[in-house]
Amino acid sequence: MTRVLITGGAGFVGSNLARDLTADGVEVRILDDLSAARDRYVEGLGADLRHGSVTDPASVRRAVKGVDAVVHLAAMSGRREAPAVRGHGPQRPFPLRGVEALR
Ligand SMILES: NC(=O)c1ccc[n+]([C@@H]2O[C@H](COP(=O)([O-])OP(=O)(O)OC[C@H]3O[C@@H](n4cnc5c(N)ncnc54)[C@H](O)[C@@H]3O)[C@@H](O)[C@H]2O)c1
Repeated sequence: MTRVLITGGAGFVGSNLARDLTADGVEVRILDDLSAARDRYVEGLGADLRHGSVTDPASVRRAVKGVDAVVHLAAMSGRREAPAVRGHGPQRPFPLRGVEALR
């Protein structure tokens, strides 16, 4: 069975993708720090939800184990004043540390 990891999969886009993939018979794993996830998005996803951040290499390393593909949707999407926008949030350390853990 195909196994897909969706980072930020408890968010708006990721949870919809998770639902569609699960309906297509894909095994879905989610890595989300739940910083912006809504309860209604997470409910009934039928996915393996793992609480962790893409900025933490150990969490990423565990989450990617055995998956066939990764869809990266973790984002601080709605917070314009968030540190990420100023260059210090998850988007910035992810390429430096998270991607390294994906190897
Ligand atoms: N919603 C849209 O209409 C839309 C359209 C085009 C592009 N996008 C892009 O798609 C992506 C996802 O958007 P969305 O609307 O689903 O946002 P969202 O805020 O609903 O989901 C983002 C998820 O990422 C999680 N997250 C944040 N920081 C994290 C971290 N460090 N580690 C793990 N998880 C973390 C949040 O808890 C949340 O569940 C963004 O890059 C956004 O710009 C969204």
